[in-house]
Amino acid sequence: MPADPPWWTRAVVYQVYPRSFQDSDGDGIGDLGGILQRADHLADLGVDVVWLSPIYPSPQADNGYDISDYTDVDPLFGSLAQLDELITALHARGLKLVMDLVVNHTSDRHPWFEESRASRASPKRDWYWWRPPREGRAAGQPGAEPTNWHSYFSGPTWELDEARGEYYLHLFAREQPDLNWENPEVRHAVYAMMRGWLDRGVDGFRMDVINMISKDVAPDGSLRDGPPLPGLPYGDGTGSFLCGPRIHEFLQEMHREVFAGHPEQLLLVGEMPGVTVEQARLFTDPARAEVDMVFQFEHVGLDFDESKWRPRPLRMRDLKASFGRWQAGLADVGWNSLYWDNHDQPRAVSRFGDDSPRYRRDSATCLATLLHLHRGTPYVYQGEEIGMANAPFDSIDDFRDVESLNHFAQAVAHGEDPEAVLAALRRMSRDNARTPVQWDGSPSAGFTTGTPWIPVNPDATEWNAAAQRADPASVFAHHKRLITLRHTDPVVALGDFTMLLPEHDELYAFTRRLDGAALLVVCNLGASTHPLGELLPEAVAAELVLGNLTDDGDPAVLRPWEARVLRPVD
Ligand code: NOJ
Repeated sequence: MPADPPWWTRAVVYQVYPRSFQDSDGDGIGDLGGILQRADHLADLGVDVVWLSPIYPSPQADNGYDISDYTDVDPLFGSLAQLDELITALHARGLKLVMDLVVNHTSDRHPWFEESRASRASPKRDWYWWRPPREGRAAGQPGAEPTNWHSYFSGPTWELDEARGEYYLHLFAREQPDLNWENPEVRHAVYAMMRGWLDRGVDGFRMDVINMISKDVAPDGSLRDGPPLPGLPYGDGTGSFLCGPRIHEFLQEMHREVFAGHPEQLLLVGEMPGVTVEQARLFTDPARAEVDMVFQFEHVGLDFDESKWRPRPLRMRDLKASFGRWQAGLADVGWNSLYWDNHDQPRAVSRFGDDSPRYRRDSATCLATLLHLHRGTPYVYQGEEIGMANAPFDSIDDFRDVESLNHFAQAVAHGEDPEAVLAALRRMSRDNARTPVQWDGSPSAGFTTGTPWIPVNPDATEWNAAAQRADPASVFAHHKRLITLRHTDPVVALGDFTMLLPEHDELYAFTRRLDGAALLVVCNLGASTHPLGELLPEAVAAELVLGNLTDDGDPAVLRPWEARVLRPVD
Protein backbone atom coordinates (compact mmCIF):
# COMPACT_ATOMS: atom_id res chain seq x y z
CA MET A 1 0.00 0.00 0.00
CA PRO A 2 1.27 3.50 -0.78
CA ALA A 3 1.88 5.95 2.10
CA ASP A 4 -1.46 7.57 1.33
CA PRO A 5 -3.76 4.57 0.80
CA PRO A 6 -6.85 4.96 -1.39
CA TRP A 7 -10.03 6.21 0.34
CA TRP A 8 -11.88 2.96 -0.37
CA THR A 9 -9.60 1.00 1.98
CA ARG A 10 -11.55 2.66 4.83
CA ALA A 11 -14.92 2.61 3.08
CA VAL A 12 -18.02 0.43 3.33
CA VAL A 13 -20.32 0.11 0.33
CA TYR A 14 -24.09 -0.43 0.50
CA GLN A 15 -25.94 -2.01 -2.41
CA VAL A 16 -29.41 -0.77 -3.31
CA TYR A 17 -31.52 -3.02 -5.53
CA PRO A 18 -34.03 -0.31 -6.44
CA ARG A 19 -36.96 -2.52 -7.35
CA SER A 20 -37.09 -3.88 -3.78
CA PHE A 21 -35.79 -0.96 -1.70
CA GLN A 22 -38.62 1.58 -1.28
CA ASP A 23 -41.62 2.44 -3.42
CA SER A 24 -42.70 6.10 -3.45
CA ASP A 25 -45.62 6.04 -5.90
CA GLY A 26 -47.68 3.04 -4.85
CA ASP A 27 -47.10 0.87 -7.93
CA GLY A 28 -45.51 -1.85 -5.81
CA ILE A 29 -42.05 -1.38 -7.34
CA GLY A 30 -39.24 0.47 -5.60
CA ASP A 31 -37.97 3.66 -7.23
CA LEU A 32 -35.60 6.63 -6.98
CA GLY A 33 -38.15 8.65 -5.00
CA GLY A 34 -38.09 5.83 -2.47
CA ILE A 35 -34.31 5.85 -2.20
CA LEU A 36 -34.45 9.62 -1.62
CA GLN A 37 -36.92 9.04 1.22
CA ARG A 38 -34.54 6.56 2.82
CA ALA A 39 -31.28 8.48 2.34
CA ASP A 40 -31.10 9.14 6.08
CA HIS A 41 -31.19 5.40 6.81
CA LEU A 42 -28.00 5.04 4.77
CA ALA A 43 -26.35 8.03 6.43
CA ASP A 44 -27.36 6.73 9.85
CA LEU A 45 -25.85 3.33 9.09
CA GLY A 46 -22.64 5.19 8.26
CA VAL A 47 -21.76 3.66 4.89
CA ASP A 48 -19.61 5.64 2.47
CA VAL A 49 -20.84 4.55 -0.94
CA VAL A 50 -24.12 3.47 -2.48
CA TRP A 51 -23.96 1.06 -5.40
CA LEU A 52 -27.20 1.33 -7.32
CA SER A 53 -28.31 -1.69 -9.34
CA PRO A 54 -29.58 -0.69 -12.82
CA ILE A 55 -32.23 2.02 -13.14
CA TYR A 56 -31.85 2.51 -16.90
CA PRO A 57 -34.72 2.02 -19.39
CA SER A 58 -35.25 -1.70 -19.71
CA PRO A 59 -37.92 -4.23 -20.67
CA GLN A 60 -37.07 -5.80 -17.27
CA ALA A 61 -36.48 -9.33 -18.58
CA ASP A 62 -33.72 -9.54 -15.94
CA ASN A 63 -34.87 -6.75 -13.62
CA GLY A 64 -32.90 -4.04 -15.39
CA TYR A 65 -29.77 -6.03 -16.26
CA ASP A 66 -31.17 -5.91 -19.81
CA ILE A 67 -30.69 -2.26 -20.77
CA SER A 68 -32.37 -0.64 -23.77
CA ASP A 69 -30.92 2.87 -23.24
CA TYR A 70 -27.70 3.55 -21.33
CA THR A 71 -28.31 7.28 -21.06
CA ASP A 72 -31.64 7.62 -19.29
CA VAL A 73 -33.72 6.43 -16.34
CA ASP A 74 -36.65 4.02 -16.72
CA PRO A 75 -39.95 5.77 -15.89
CA LEU A 76 -40.61 2.76 -13.65
CA PHE A 77 -37.86 4.09 -11.38
CA GLY A 78 -38.28 7.84 -11.96
CA SER A 79 -36.41 10.39 -14.02
CA LEU A 80 -32.96 11.77 -14.71
CA ALA A 81 -33.92 14.80 -12.60
CA GLN A 82 -34.55 12.49 -9.64
CA LEU A 83 -31.27 10.74 -10.20
CA ASP A 84 -29.54 14.14 -10.09
CA GLU A 85 -31.44 14.84 -6.89
CA LEU A 86 -30.26 11.54 -5.44
CA ILE A 87 -26.63 12.26 -6.34
CA THR A 88 -26.95 15.65 -4.63
CA ALA A 89 -28.70 14.18 -1.57
CA LEU A 90 -26.06 11.49 -1.14
CA HIS A 91 -23.16 13.86 -1.69
CA ALA A 92 -24.67 16.24 0.86
CA ARG A 93 -24.52 13.39 3.38
CA GLY A 94 -20.94 12.54 2.46
CA LEU A 95 -21.87 9.43 0.44
CA LYS A 96 -20.80 8.56 -3.08
CA LEU A 97 -22.97 6.99 -5.78
CA VAL A 98 -21.67 4.13 -7.93
CA MET A 99 -23.72 3.05 -10.95
CA ASP A 100 -24.11 -0.44 -12.33
CA LEU A 101 -22.43 -0.76 -15.72
CA VAL A 102 -23.90 -3.61 -17.79
CA VAL A 103 -21.92 -3.72 -21.01
CA ASN A 104 -21.27 -7.40 -21.67
CA HIS A 105 -24.75 -7.36 -23.18
CA THR A 106 -27.65 -5.05 -23.89
CA SER A 107 -31.37 -5.69 -24.07
CA ASP A 108 -32.64 -7.14 -27.35
CA ARG A 109 -34.71 -3.93 -27.47
CA HIS A 110 -31.67 -1.66 -27.45
CA PRO A 111 -31.57 0.35 -30.72
CA TRP A 112 -28.04 -0.98 -31.29
CA PHE A 113 -29.35 -4.54 -31.38
CA GLU A 114 -32.47 -3.65 -33.35
CA GLU A 115 -30.24 -2.03 -35.97
CA SER A 116 -27.81 -4.93 -35.88
CA ARG A 117 -30.49 -7.55 -36.44
CA ALA A 118 -32.30 -5.50 -39.12
CA SER A 119 -30.10 -6.82 -41.95
CA ARG A 120 -26.79 -8.45 -42.71
CA ALA A 121 -25.82 -5.18 -44.40
CA SER A 122 -26.48 -3.06 -41.31
CA PRO A 123 -23.57 -0.82 -40.26
CA LYS A 124 -24.02 -2.32 -36.78
CA ARG A 125 -24.19 -5.92 -38.04
CA ASP A 126 -20.96 -6.70 -36.25
CA TRP A 127 -21.83 -5.05 -32.91
CA TYR A 128 -23.11 -8.39 -31.62
CA TRP A 129 -22.06 -12.02 -32.08
CA TRP A 130 -23.87 -13.30 -35.16
CA ARG A 131 -22.95 -16.74 -36.45
CA PRO A 132 -24.36 -19.18 -39.06
CA PRO A 133 -25.71 -22.57 -37.97
CA ARG A 134 -23.19 -25.31 -37.25
CA GLU A 135 -21.78 -26.84 -40.43
CA GLY A 136 -23.98 -29.58 -41.82
CA ARG A 137 -27.05 -28.44 -39.83
CA ALA A 138 -29.98 -26.33 -40.93
CA ALA A 139 -30.88 -23.25 -38.91
CA GLY A 140 -33.35 -24.19 -36.19
CA GLN A 141 -32.50 -27.91 -36.12
CA PRO A 142 -31.64 -29.26 -32.67
CA GLY A 143 -27.88 -28.97 -32.17
CA ALA A 144 -27.51 -26.42 -34.99
CA GLU A 145 -26.33 -23.74 -32.57
CA PRO A 146 -22.86 -22.43 -33.49
CA THR A 147 -21.40 -23.74 -30.20
CA ASN A 148 -22.70 -26.09 -27.51
CA TRP A 149 -22.53 -23.55 -24.68
CA HIS A 150 -25.10 -23.67 -21.87
CA SER A 151 -26.61 -20.33 -20.91
CA TYR A 152 -26.43 -19.07 -17.32
CA PHE A 153 -30.21 -18.92 -17.46
CA SER A 154 -30.74 -22.47 -18.89
CA GLY A 155 -30.98 -23.59 -22.51
CA PRO A 156 -28.47 -22.76 -25.24
CA THR A 157 -26.56 -19.45 -25.45
CA TRP A 158 -27.69 -18.97 -29.05
CA GLU A 159 -30.99 -17.72 -30.38
CA LEU A 160 -31.96 -18.01 -34.00
CA ASP A 161 -33.06 -14.85 -35.77
CA GLU A 162 -35.34 -16.28 -38.45
CA ALA A 163 -35.19 -13.24 -40.69
CA ARG A 164 -31.38 -13.02 -40.68
CA GLY A 165 -31.00 -16.80 -40.79
CA GLU A 166 -28.26 -16.54 -38.17
CA TYR A 167 -27.89 -17.05 -34.47
CA TYR A 168 -26.91 -14.41 -31.92
CA LEU A 169 -25.02 -15.09 -28.72
CA HIS A 170 -26.56 -14.47 -25.29
CA LEU A 171 -24.66 -15.81 -22.29
CA PHE A 172 -27.67 -14.87 -20.12
CA ALA A 173 -31.36 -14.62 -21.16
CA ARG A 174 -32.27 -14.56 -24.84
CA GLU A 175 -33.34 -10.95 -24.27
CA GLN A 176 -29.69 -10.11 -23.38
CA PRO A 177 -27.57 -10.35 -26.55
CA ASP A 178 -23.79 -10.11 -25.98
CA LEU A 179 -22.00 -7.07 -27.38
CA ASN A 180 -19.03 -7.77 -29.61
CA TRP A 181 -16.11 -6.07 -27.86
CA GLU A 182 -13.79 -7.07 -30.71
CA ASN A 183 -15.39 -4.19 -32.61
CA PRO A 184 -13.70 -0.89 -31.64
CA GLU A 185 -16.90 1.05 -32.43
CA VAL A 186 -18.67 -0.85 -29.65
CA ARG A 187 -15.92 -0.08 -27.17
CA HIS A 188 -15.81 3.60 -28.00
CA ALA A 189 -19.59 3.93 -27.77
CA VAL A 190 -19.44 2.37 -24.29
CA TYR A 191 -16.60 4.66 -23.18
CA ALA A 192 -18.46 7.76 -24.38
CA MET A 193 -21.52 6.68 -22.40
CA MET A 194 -19.40 6.11 -19.27
CA ARG A 195 -17.80 9.55 -19.57
CA GLY A 196 -21.31 11.00 -19.74
CA TRP A 197 -22.20 9.48 -16.36
CA LEU A 198 -19.02 10.70 -14.72
CA ASP A 199 -19.74 14.19 -16.04
CA ARG A 200 -23.15 13.91 -14.43
CA GLY A 201 -21.49 13.39 -11.05
CA VAL A 202 -21.49 9.65 -10.42
CA ASP A 203 -18.52 8.30 -8.49
CA GLY A 204 -17.69 5.09 -10.26
CA PHE A 205 -19.02 1.84 -11.62
CA ARG A 206 -19.76 -1.69 -10.55
CA MET A 207 -19.07 -3.54 -13.77
CA ASP A 208 -21.44 -6.42 -14.42
CA VAL A 209 -19.75 -9.71 -15.49
CA ILE A 210 -16.95 -7.60 -16.91
CA ASN A 211 -14.57 -10.55 -17.26
CA MET A 212 -16.88 -11.97 -19.96
CA ILE A 213 -16.40 -9.18 -22.51
CA SER A 214 -13.43 -10.81 -24.28
CA LYS A 215 -14.34 -14.02 -26.11
CA ASP A 216 -11.72 -16.45 -27.36
CA VAL A 217 -12.42 -16.17 -31.06
CA ALA A 218 -10.28 -17.92 -33.67
CA PRO A 219 -8.77 -15.90 -36.54
CA ASP A 220 -11.46 -17.30 -38.86
CA GLY A 221 -14.14 -15.96 -36.50
CA SER A 222 -15.19 -19.30 -35.06
CA LEU A 223 -15.88 -20.02 -31.41
CA ARG A 224 -15.10 -23.40 -29.84
CA ASP A 225 -17.36 -25.97 -28.17
CA GLY A 226 -16.81 -26.57 -24.47
CA PRO A 227 -16.63 -29.87 -22.57
CA PRO A 228 -20.03 -31.61 -22.24
CA LEU A 229 -22.08 -30.93 -19.11
CA PRO A 230 -23.29 -34.11 -17.36
CA GLY A 231 -26.99 -34.73 -17.86
CA LEU A 232 -27.50 -31.83 -20.28
CA PRO A 233 -27.39 -31.56 -24.09
CA TYR A 234 -24.98 -28.61 -23.70
CA GLY A 235 -21.34 -27.92 -22.91
CA ASP A 236 -19.45 -25.58 -20.57
CA GLY A 237 -18.31 -22.61 -22.64
CA THR A 238 -16.66 -20.70 -19.81
CA GLY A 239 -13.17 -21.55 -21.11
CA SER A 240 -14.00 -19.38 -24.12
CA PHE A 241 -15.31 -16.30 -22.33
CA LEU A 242 -14.14 -16.00 -18.70
CA CYS A 243 -11.06 -13.73 -18.63
CA GLY A 244 -10.64 -14.13 -22.39
CA PRO A 245 -7.47 -13.24 -24.30
CA ARG A 246 -8.08 -9.46 -24.59
CA ILE A 247 -9.67 -8.79 -21.20
CA HIS A 248 -6.71 -6.87 -19.73
CA GLU A 249 -6.24 -4.91 -22.93
CA PHE A 250 -9.92 -3.87 -22.92
CA LEU A 251 -9.92 -2.83 -19.26
CA GLN A 252 -6.71 -0.85 -19.68
CA GLU A 253 -8.15 0.86 -22.72
CA MET A 254 -11.31 1.69 -20.76
CA HIS A 255 -9.17 3.11 -17.97
CA ARG A 256 -7.24 5.34 -20.37
CA GLU A 257 -10.34 6.46 -22.23
CA VAL A 258 -12.65 7.04 -19.27
CA PHE A 259 -10.89 7.29 -15.92
CA ALA A 260 -7.34 8.51 -16.52
CA GLY A 261 -6.79 11.99 -15.24
CA HIS A 262 -10.25 12.09 -13.71
CA PRO A 263 -9.93 14.47 -10.81
CA GLU A 264 -12.64 12.82 -8.67
CA GLN A 265 -12.02 9.87 -6.40
CA LEU A 266 -13.75 7.02 -8.13
CA LEU A 267 -14.56 3.43 -7.21
CA LEU A 268 -14.19 0.80 -9.93
CA VAL A 269 -15.24 -2.71 -9.05
CA GLY A 270 -15.44 -5.52 -11.56
CA GLU A 271 -17.83 -8.43 -11.08
CA MET A 272 -15.87 -11.48 -12.26
CA PRO A 273 -17.37 -14.95 -11.98
CA GLY A 274 -14.73 -17.66 -11.98
CA VAL A 275 -11.82 -15.25 -11.46
CA THR A 276 -8.79 -16.78 -9.72
CA VAL A 277 -6.69 -14.99 -7.14
CA GLU A 278 -3.76 -14.93 -9.57
CA GLN A 279 -5.91 -13.19 -12.18
CA ALA A 280 -7.32 -10.82 -9.54
CA ARG A 281 -3.78 -9.70 -8.68
CA LEU A 282 -3.42 -8.54 -12.26
CA PHE A 283 -6.84 -6.90 -12.44
CA THR A 284 -6.34 -4.94 -9.20
CA ASP A 285 -2.65 -4.04 -9.36
CA PRO A 286 -2.79 -0.21 -9.36
CA ALA A 287 0.27 -0.09 -11.61
CA ARG A 288 -1.73 -1.80 -14.39
CA ALA A 289 -4.68 0.68 -14.20
CA GLU A 290 -7.61 -1.72 -14.70
CA VAL A 291 -10.03 -1.84 -11.70
CA ASP A 292 -9.72 -1.17 -7.95
CA MET A 293 -11.16 -4.48 -6.79
CA VAL A 294 -13.11 -7.46 -8.11
CA PHE A 295 -16.07 -9.47 -6.90
CA GLN A 296 -14.85 -13.03 -6.86
CA PHE A 297 -17.18 -16.01 -6.44
CA GLU A 298 -15.15 -18.70 -4.71
CA HIS A 299 -16.71 -18.46 -1.25
CA VAL A 300 -20.26 -18.43 -2.63
CA GLY A 301 -19.50 -21.59 -4.61
CA LEU A 302 -18.51 -23.84 -1.71
CA ASP A 303 -21.94 -25.07 -0.65
CA PHE A 304 -23.03 -26.84 -3.81
CA ASP A 305 -21.83 -29.52 -6.20
CA GLU A 306 -21.84 -29.16 -9.98
CA SER A 307 -24.39 -26.32 -9.98
CA LYS A 308 -26.03 -24.02 -7.44
CA TRP A 309 -29.17 -26.14 -7.76
CA ARG A 310 -27.34 -29.07 -6.12
CA PRO A 311 -26.68 -27.56 -2.69
CA ARG A 312 -24.70 -29.32 0.05
CA PRO A 313 -23.47 -28.24 3.48
CA LEU A 314 -20.51 -25.88 3.63
CA ARG A 315 -17.32 -27.20 5.23
CA MET A 316 -15.76 -24.58 7.46
CA ARG A 317 -12.23 -25.50 6.45
CA ASP A 318 -13.10 -24.87 2.78
CA LEU A 319 -14.34 -21.40 3.66
CA LYS A 320 -11.18 -20.64 5.62
CA ALA A 321 -8.92 -22.03 2.92
CA SER A 322 -10.66 -19.87 0.33
CA PHE A 323 -10.78 -16.59 2.24
CA GLY A 324 -7.26 -17.23 3.53
CA ARG A 325 -5.93 -17.70 0.00
CA TRP A 326 -7.56 -14.47 -1.20
CA GLN A 327 -6.27 -12.53 1.80
CA ALA A 328 -2.74 -13.83 1.22
CA GLY A 329 -2.89 -13.50 -2.57
CA LEU A 330 -3.84 -9.83 -2.48
CA ALA A 331 -1.71 -8.87 0.52
CA ASP A 332 1.08 -7.05 -1.28
CA VAL A 333 -0.61 -6.16 -4.55
CA GLY A 334 -4.26 -5.38 -5.27
CA TRP A 335 -7.28 -5.30 -2.99
CA ASN A 336 -10.20 -7.53 -1.95
CA SER A 337 -13.90 -6.80 -1.95
CA LEU A 338 -15.75 -8.56 0.86
CA TYR A 339 -19.35 -9.76 0.62
CA TRP A 340 -21.77 -12.43 1.76
CA ASP A 341 -24.88 -11.07 0.12
CA ASN A 342 -26.03 -9.33 -3.01
CA HIS A 343 -29.07 -9.45 -5.29
CA ASP A 344 -27.87 -12.76 -6.81
CA GLN A 345 -27.25 -14.70 -3.59
CA PRO A 346 -29.57 -16.17 -0.99
CA ARG A 347 -29.60 -14.35 2.35
CA ALA A 348 -26.40 -14.87 4.33
CA VAL A 349 -28.05 -15.44 7.71
CA SER A 350 -30.04 -18.33 6.22
CA ARG A 351 -27.13 -19.68 4.19
CA PHE A 352 -24.06 -19.32 6.39
CA GLY A 353 -25.70 -18.50 9.72
CA ASP A 354 -28.69 -19.89 11.62
CA ASP A 355 -31.99 -18.13 11.00
CA SER A 356 -33.86 -19.96 13.76
CA PRO A 357 -35.36 -17.54 16.32
CA ARG A 358 -32.76 -18.61 18.88
CA TYR A 359 -29.68 -17.68 16.82
CA ARG A 360 -30.78 -15.36 14.03
CA ARG A 361 -29.58 -12.14 15.66
CA ASP A 362 -26.39 -13.66 17.00
CA SER A 363 -25.41 -15.42 13.78
CA ALA A 364 -26.18 -12.35 11.63
CA THR A 365 -23.93 -10.18 13.81
CA CYS A 366 -21.26 -12.89 13.99
CA LEU A 367 -21.10 -13.20 10.18
CA ALA A 368 -20.97 -9.42 9.83
CA THR A 369 -18.10 -9.18 12.31
CA LEU A 370 -16.13 -11.86 10.49
CA LEU A 371 -16.58 -10.16 7.13
CA HIS A 372 -15.97 -6.56 8.16
CA LEU A 373 -12.77 -7.44 10.02
CA HIS A 374 -11.08 -8.90 6.95
CA ARG A 375 -8.75 -6.80 4.85
CA GLY A 376 -10.74 -5.44 1.92
CA THR A 377 -13.76 -3.28 1.23
CA PRO A 378 -16.98 -4.67 2.78
CA TYR A 379 -20.26 -4.57 0.86
CA VAL A 380 -23.59 -4.56 2.72
CA TYR A 381 -26.59 -5.65 0.68
CA GLN A 382 -29.91 -3.97 1.49
CA GLY A 383 -31.63 -5.69 4.40
CA GLU A 384 -28.45 -7.48 5.50
CA GLU A 385 -27.98 -4.71 8.08
CA ILE A 386 -31.24 -5.79 9.76
CA GLY A 387 -30.69 -9.54 9.43
CA MET A 388 -33.19 -10.23 6.64
CA ALA A 389 -33.58 -13.95 5.90
CA ASN A 390 -34.63 -16.20 3.01
CA ALA A 391 -38.32 -16.10 2.14
CA PRO A 392 -40.82 -18.94 2.71
CA PHE A 393 -41.73 -19.46 -0.96
CA ASP A 394 -44.74 -21.72 -1.23
CA SER A 395 -44.91 -22.75 -4.87
CA ILE A 396 -43.28 -21.87 -8.19
CA ASP A 397 -45.87 -19.07 -8.53
CA ASP A 398 -44.13 -17.16 -5.75
CA PHE A 399 -40.91 -16.85 -7.75
CA ARG A 400 -40.24 -14.01 -10.18
CA ASP A 401 -36.62 -14.39 -11.27
CA VAL A 402 -35.88 -15.44 -14.86
CA GLU A 403 -33.02 -17.67 -13.68
CA SER A 404 -35.25 -19.55 -11.22
CA LEU A 405 -38.22 -19.85 -13.56
CA ASN A 406 -36.10 -21.07 -16.49
CA HIS A 407 -34.30 -23.57 -14.31
CA PHE A 408 -37.58 -24.95 -12.96
CA ALA A 409 -38.99 -25.36 -16.48
CA GLN A 410 -35.80 -27.00 -17.82
CA ALA A 411 -35.33 -29.34 -14.84
CA VAL A 412 -38.96 -30.49 -14.81
CA ALA A 413 -38.87 -31.00 -18.59
CA HIS A 414 -35.81 -33.21 -18.04
CA GLY A 415 -37.80 -35.37 -15.63
CA GLU A 416 -36.67 -34.00 -12.25
CA ASP A 417 -39.14 -34.13 -9.37
CA PRO A 418 -40.79 -30.68 -9.14
CA GLU A 419 -40.74 -30.79 -5.32
CA ALA A 420 -36.99 -31.46 -5.29
CA VAL A 421 -36.42 -28.62 -7.76
CA LEU A 422 -38.51 -26.31 -5.57
CA ALA A 423 -36.50 -27.30 -2.51
CA ALA A 424 -33.30 -26.19 -4.25
CA LEU A 425 -34.96 -22.95 -5.40
CA ARG A 426 -36.05 -22.17 -1.84
CA ARG A 427 -32.46 -22.45 -0.75
CA MET A 428 -30.60 -20.85 -3.63
CA SER A 429 -32.97 -18.67 -5.66
CA ARG A 430 -31.96 -15.05 -6.20
CA ASP A 431 -35.51 -14.08 -5.23
CA ASN A 432 -34.51 -14.71 -1.61
CA ALA A 433 -32.50 -11.49 -1.84
CA ARG A 434 -35.19 -9.61 -3.71
CA THR A 435 -38.13 -9.52 -1.30
CA PRO A 436 -38.86 -5.94 -0.22
CA VAL A 437 -36.77 -4.27 2.45
CA GLN A 438 -38.53 -4.54 5.78
CA TRP A 439 -38.83 -0.99 7.04
CA ASP A 440 -41.51 -1.51 9.69
CA GLY A 441 -44.07 -4.01 10.96
CA SER A 442 -47.03 -2.78 8.86
CA PRO A 443 -48.64 -5.11 6.27
CA SER A 444 -46.35 -4.17 3.37
CA ALA A 445 -43.45 -3.53 5.75
CA GLY A 446 -43.47 0.19 4.87
CA PHE A 447 -42.17 -0.71 1.40
CA THR A 448 -45.25 0.29 -0.59
CA THR A 449 -48.83 1.47 -0.23
CA GLY A 450 -49.70 -0.77 -3.21
CA THR A 451 -49.19 -4.45 -3.91
CA PRO A 452 -45.52 -5.40 -3.81
CA TRP A 453 -44.19 -6.96 -7.03
CA ILE A 454 -42.92 -9.89 -4.96
CA PRO A 455 -44.41 -10.80 -1.57
CA VAL A 456 -42.97 -9.25 1.58
CA ASN A 457 -41.42 -11.83 3.90
CA PRO A 458 -44.03 -12.40 6.65
CA ASP A 459 -41.31 -12.17 9.30
CA ALA A 460 -41.28 -8.38 8.70
CA THR A 461 -43.60 -7.95 11.67
CA GLU A 462 -40.67 -8.85 13.89
CA TRP A 463 -37.61 -8.18 11.72
CA ASN A 464 -37.67 -4.60 10.52
CA ALA A 465 -35.60 -1.43 10.53
CA ALA A 466 -37.97 0.58 12.73
CA ALA A 467 -37.71 -1.99 15.52
CA GLN A 468 -33.94 -2.08 15.30
CA ARG A 469 -32.94 1.54 14.86
CA ALA A 470 -33.21 2.47 18.53
CA ASP A 471 -32.12 -0.89 19.92
CA PRO A 472 -28.41 -0.98 20.80
CA ALA A 473 -28.48 -4.79 20.68
CA SER A 474 -29.85 -4.94 17.13
CA VAL A 475 -28.18 -6.26 13.98
CA PHE A 476 -28.44 -2.70 12.66
CA ALA A 477 -26.64 -1.19 15.67
CA HIS A 478 -23.92 -3.82 15.36
CA HIS A 479 -23.35 -2.94 11.70
CA LYS A 480 -23.01 0.71 12.70
CA ARG A 481 -20.32 -0.22 15.21
CA LEU A 482 -18.43 -2.31 12.67
CA ILE A 483 -18.51 0.48 10.11
CA THR A 484 -17.28 3.00 12.69
CA LEU A 485 -14.47 0.65 13.66
CA ARG A 486 -13.24 0.50 10.05
CA HIS A 487 -13.40 4.29 9.84
CA THR A 488 -11.48 4.84 13.04
CA ASP A 489 -9.01 1.98 13.45
CA PRO A 490 -6.30 1.79 10.76
CA VAL A 491 -5.61 -1.84 11.73
CA VAL A 492 -9.07 -2.78 10.41
CA ALA A 493 -8.55 -0.94 7.15
CA LEU A 494 -4.92 -1.69 6.47
CA GLY A 495 -3.53 -4.33 8.83
CA ASP A 496 -2.12 -7.54 7.41
CA PHE A 497 -4.02 -10.83 7.86
CA THR A 498 -3.04 -14.16 9.39
CA MET A 499 -5.51 -17.05 9.57
CA LEU A 500 -5.46 -19.07 12.83
CA LEU A 501 -6.88 -22.57 13.47
CA PRO A 502 -7.34 -23.37 9.74
CA GLU A 503 -8.59 -26.90 10.48
CA HIS A 504 -11.13 -26.08 13.18
CA ASP A 505 -14.72 -26.96 12.25
CA GLU A 506 -16.50 -24.11 14.03
CA LEU A 507 -14.04 -21.44 15.15
CA TYR A 508 -12.90 -18.86 12.65
CA ALA A 509 -10.02 -16.81 14.02
CA PHE A 510 -7.42 -14.44 12.60
CA THR A 511 -5.13 -11.60 13.48
CA ARG A 512 -4.69 -8.23 11.82
CA ARG A 513 -1.44 -6.31 12.40
CA LEU A 514 -0.22 -2.86 11.51
CA ASP A 515 2.87 -1.01 12.73
CA GLY A 516 3.05 -2.82 16.07
CA ALA A 517 -0.72 -2.63 16.71
CA ALA A 518 -2.84 -5.77 16.45
CA LEU A 519 -6.37 -7.09 16.56
CA LEU A 520 -7.37 -10.69 17.20
CA VAL A 521 -10.75 -11.74 15.83
CA VAL A 522 -12.44 -14.90 17.11
CA CYS A 523 -15.80 -16.06 15.75
CA ASN A 524 -17.83 -19.12 16.65
CA LEU A 525 -19.74 -20.19 13.55
CA GLY A 526 -21.85 -22.77 15.29
CA ALA A 527 -24.16 -23.57 18.17
CA SER A 528 -21.61 -25.25 20.49
CA THR A 529 -19.64 -23.57 23.23
CA HIS A 530 -15.85 -23.51 22.90
CA PRO A 531 -13.34 -23.06 25.73
CA LEU A 532 -10.49 -20.90 24.44
CA GLY A 533 -7.83 -21.58 27.10
CA GLU A 534 -5.93 -24.19 25.11
CA LEU A 535 -6.87 -23.25 21.57
CA LEU A 536 -6.24 -19.51 21.73
CA PRO A 537 -4.81 -18.57 25.13
CA GLU A 538 -3.94 -15.08 23.85
CA ALA A 539 -7.67 -14.43 23.40
CA VAL A 540 -8.47 -15.05 27.05
CA ALA A 541 -6.35 -12.22 28.42
CA ALA A 542 -7.02 -9.78 25.58
CA GLU A 543 -9.05 -6.60 25.85
CA LEU A 544 -12.49 -6.64 24.20
CA VAL A 545 -12.79 -3.98 21.49
CA LEU A 546 -16.12 -5.09 20.06
CA GLY A 547 -18.30 -8.13 20.71
CA ASN A 548 -21.60 -9.19 19.19
CA LEU A 549 -23.32 -10.58 22.29
CA THR A 550 -25.00 -8.22 24.68
CA ASP A 551 -23.14 -9.19 27.84
CA ASP A 552 -19.41 -9.72 27.98
CA GLY A 553 -19.49 -13.33 29.25
CA ASP A 554 -16.55 -15.42 30.37
CA PRO A 555 -13.41 -14.41 28.41
CA ALA A 556 -12.25 -18.04 28.47
CA VAL A 557 -15.34 -19.37 26.68
CA LEU A 558 -16.78 -18.54 23.26
CA ARG A 559 -20.56 -18.97 23.25
CA PRO A 560 -22.69 -20.09 20.25
CA TRP A 561 -22.32 -17.61 17.35
CA GLU A 562 -20.23 -15.29 19.48
CA ALA A 563 -17.75 -12.97 17.75
CA ARG A 564 -15.08 -10.98 19.53
CA VAL A 565 -12.72 -8.37 18.24
CA LEU A 566 -9.86 -8.26 20.74
CA ARG A 567 -6.75 -6.24 21.37
CA PRO A 568 -4.03 -8.60 22.57
CA VAL A 569 -2.11 -7.50 25.67
CA ASP A 570 1.68 -8.00 25.82
C1 NOJ B 1 -24.72 -10.39 -12.97
C2 NOJ B 1 -25.82 -9.66 -12.27
O1 NOJ B 1 -25.44 -9.44 -10.94
C3 NOJ B 1 -27.06 -10.50 -12.40
O2 NOJ B 1 -28.12 -10.04 -11.60
C4 NOJ B 1 -27.45 -10.53 -13.86
O3 NOJ B 1 -28.54 -11.39 -14.02
C5 NOJ B 1 -26.30 -11.00 -14.72
N1 NOJ B 1 -25.04 -10.43 -14.36
C6 NOJ B 1 -26.55 -10.62 -16.16
O4 NOJ B 1 -26.46 -9.22 -16.30
